[in-house]
Amino acid sequence: MATVLVTGGAGYIGSHTCVALIEAGYEVAVLDSLANSSAAAIDAAGEIAGHRPRLYIADCRDESALEKVMADVRPDAVLHFAGLKSVPDSVADPLRYYRHNLDSAAVLLAVMERSGVRRIVFSSSATVYGEPDDLPVAETASTRPANPYGWTKLLIEQMIADVVRADPRWSAALLRYFNPVGAHPSGLIGEDPEGIPGNLMPYLLQVAVGRRSHLPLYGTDYPTSDGTTLRDYIHVMDLADGHLAALKHLDSAVGQAHVFNLGTGRGASVLEVIAAMREATGHRLPYEALDRRPGDVPELWADPARARQELGWSASRSLAEMCRDAWSWQSTHPQGYRSQT
Ligand code: NAD
Ligand code: WQD
Repeated sequence: MATVLVTGGAGYIGSHTCVALIEAGYEVAVLDSLANSSAAAIDAAGEIAGHRPRLYIADCRDESALEKVMADVRPDAVLHFAGLKSVPDSVADPLRYYRHNLDSAAVLLAVMERSGVRRIVFSSSATVYGEPDDLPVAETASTRPANPYGWTKLLIEQMIADVVRADPRWSAALLRYFNPVGAHPSGLIGEDPEGIPGNLMPYLLQVAVGRRSHLPLYGTDYPTSDGTTLRDYIHVMDLADGHLAALKHLDSAVGQAHVFNLGTGRGASVLEVIAAMREATGHRLPYEALDRRPGDVPELWADPARARQELGWSASRSLAEMCRDAWSWQSTHPQGYRSQT
């Protein structure tokens, strides 16, 4: 049985991936500072999968702590989710983002190297593409991040690619996620943002559950069919399955660092998401049309062909399932992991 270390495994995408990994037979250990998550997510992931992952509460930038965890777990591979992910925060405090995300990756890679662990799956983002020239966006498209957060993702991709180039015993999968949404269908784990949600789906869920009065809808004058932006929303369990496929791929890709888009290949508009959420929740979900949000691109969706061909993976869950599963989490946990249910 292979053992994996999941950094950031208590977070939104990490916790769902832990469930998929345990169910696929991996021995899973999580390293998380709990800076943006709760240990309750690990308990719940364990409840779903029938086996609770070991949780090490530590920061990736703490080299001696990481050394101890690596020696204790002795993983065959690392999935690196840990990092800061708010676009506006990264614009307001770029150095915090560069230091946090780049230091975390650099320390992790150094400790992996010293421990002889040379397989890594990294959480990158479609944000590295910025405003694309063509749609759908393939991995070969130009990269031009429009904010410091996106730059940290691209620089870490480069860091990992350089490490692999220097020592061909390494192998890496650099996964560019599009817009992850939804939750495990059990409703036991889900997205639990701190403060006012910055993203569309968690905001809508908080309107549905009565925590907020209405959605601020940023931009109704885009050159799209209904005037709102189009994005490639992907069910978080499809994304979790993509990580399993990427992990398996590492064995046959020694000496390489491959980039993969993880998206559905389809765009949905904000108004289509609102309509699907209304259907799933039975709530009216009022919105107020406002000006565009600075930095938003009109349309972005993936060409997922490479992942299909090389990983044998493709997303299968519909927008209706994304909304249904997200609602099953939010309606039973109106205050997220702080809820008493
Ligand atoms: P999240 O904030 O829910 O999870 C990140 C986890 O990492 C949290 O549990 C946090 O406590 C932990 N963490 C942060 N810094 C750490 C550090 N230095 N050491 C140890 N733990 C640390 O975020 P998420 O949505 O699950 O995203 C996971 C990864 O995927 C991130 O790297 C993010 O940039 C990337 N990503 C997310 C999205 C998205 O829309 N959610 C899209 C593309 C890429
Ligand atoms: C989608 C659409 C908003 C909130 C972000 C990051 C990206 C990646 C995924 C990490 C946009 C509109 C939103 C609201 C709204 N994360 N919207 N009212 O911007 O495509 O991507 O998350 O890597 O880096 O930038 O997703 O969900 O924020 O927005 O009208 O309250 O919904 O303007 O058009 P985005 P999003």
